[in-house]
Amino acid sequence: MTDRLKGRTNAITGAAQGIGRAIAEACAREGAALYLLDLDGAGVTQTATDLTAAHPDGRFASPEEIANAAVFMVSDECPFMTATCLTIDGGLSVRQHG
Ligand SMILES: NC(=O)c1ccc[n+]([C@@H]2O[C@H](COP(=O)([O-])OP(=O)(O)OC[C@H]3O[C@@H](n4cnc5c(N)ncnc54)[C@H](O)[C@@H]3O)[C@@H](O)[C@H]2O)c1
Repeated sequence: MTDRLKGRTNAITGAAQGIGRAIAEACAREGAALYLLDLDGAGVTQTATDLTAAHPDGRFASPEEIANAAVFMVSDECPFMTATCLTIDGGLSVRQHG
């Protein structure tokens, strides 16, 4: 794994199988966030499930898990936290660099 595509979001059509799935796997290894599309709903769900299983937490974050951290960062709860990057990735970057 590398982070060459970290911070990027890729939309991949035909991700249920073949070339599209291979591209999805490659982009995931490079750290991209993915939108997976296919006419084959079950197949593309399987691709997403397989890629998610490779994540340390075995799941995607919920929108609330990301939003709660963003709300905290802009709140007055920790005014000394400044010029800081907060990584909310369920441990993925630790696995990549550890
Ligand atoms: N496999 C090769 O060696 C090769 C070589 C040159 C070109 N191509 C072309 O590349 C493309 C992909 O090849 P492949 O071997 O991965 O094919 P594939 O049939 O294994 O997979 C194509 C996937 O695209 C999905 N799909 C089809 N139409 C779609 C649409 N309108 N929107 C979303 N998803 C859609 C299908 O459901 C399928 O999951 C094809 O157009 C193929 O002709 C393939």
